[in-house]
Amino acid sequence: MPESITQSIETLVHNALAELGEAHDSQTLDQWRVAYLGRRGRLTTILRGLSQLDLEERRAAGALGNKAKRSLEEHLDRRESEIRQVQLDRSAELDRLDVTLPGRPLSMGRLHPTTQVIREITSAFTAMGFSIVEGPEVEWDKYNFEMLNIPQGHPARDMWNTVWVDYQNESGERPMLLRTHTSPMQARVMEATKPPVRVIVPGKCYRYEATDATHEWHFYQVEGLAVDEGITFADLKGTLYEFARRLFGEERRVRFRCDYFPFVEPGVDMSIDCFACDGEGTSGCRICRDSGWIEIMGAGMVHPRVLAGVGYDTEKYTGFAFGLGPERIAMLKYGIDDIRLFYSNDLRFLRQF
Ligand code: DAH
Repeated sequence: MPESITQSIETLVHNALAELGEAHDSQTLDQWRVAYLGRRGRLTTILRGLSQLDLEERRAAGALGNKAKRSLEEHLDRRESEIRQVQLDRSAELDRLDVTLPGRPLSMGRLHPTTQVIREITSAFTAMGFSIVEGPEVEWDKYNFEMLNIPQGHPARDMWNTVWVDYQNESGERPMLLRTHTSPMQARVMEATKPPVRVIVPGKCYRYEATDATHEWHFYQVEGLAVDEGITFADLKGTLYEFARRLFGEERRVRFRCDYFPFVEPGVDMSIDCFACDGEGTSGCRICRDSGWIEIMGAGMVHPRVLAGVGYDTEKYTGFAFGLGPERIAMLKYGIDDIRLFYSNDLRFLRQF
């Protein structure tokens, strides 16, 4: 074998290994592989040149060439894994995870205070045999007013400043509105079912009104209705008394005073004795404004006209109804002084409950 071939293979291996030692990334490694071991690479070129030699020399040089090739491939593999290891070590160092650091707290959602109070109210009544129903927020004049003994032009309509929906029927009337109270569900439920009726209706209501600390243009109400044979005012008092004790404490006393609502007769408002000053009316009590009493709902015996309007036999059936505002109840229970907070989406407020 000519000395020059042995020489050039050895030089090539020497140079190749020196270059390999300088390679620090896979791209350089790849270039290196192409330069030395590729189909047009330097080693391949030398090996191709062997064809000019005679058989004996060719064999010896070929063996040497192949040995060099294997050696370069092995070095390449080794260098590749060294580089990979270095990269791994570096990224492990960079992304180091300190498992002893405190985790980021997950913030828990919770029920809106209004929802909480509505659930408290409704479960007080379901415990007494009432079932929960819901109704439409966009309502007809017929249910919101007429069937509740508040005909067109009745002055009592002024009690409910109404948001009307811009809708006109074939007769040119505009009978669609956003319900101003949950009372229309009294008529809807009775129209759809025969007595006995015992329902509780939580839901959203709307009024065309300026807002202030005690008024919102949208708010919730919870309506109640019980109709059966032989229901008397004593049932109304007993039921609502029990409710007041469940929500505001066993020791509560209640007071009923005459009030007017077109769909009940007699109509009343119910107050509880002030839980802040124990009904003393102590001077400076913010909750009852020194009266010792807090009004919490309107109620009454269902007006015979309302019963007749849904086709109930007024000789046979009587009933009582009531309506209350859960936001007001929540304000009283939790000492909240502005109803607008319920709709402000202010987490500082919402997180208190
Ligand atoms: N719907 C009345 C209102 O919004 C509240 C009310 C009063 C409901 C007396 C009743 C009731 O069922 O009997 O002002």
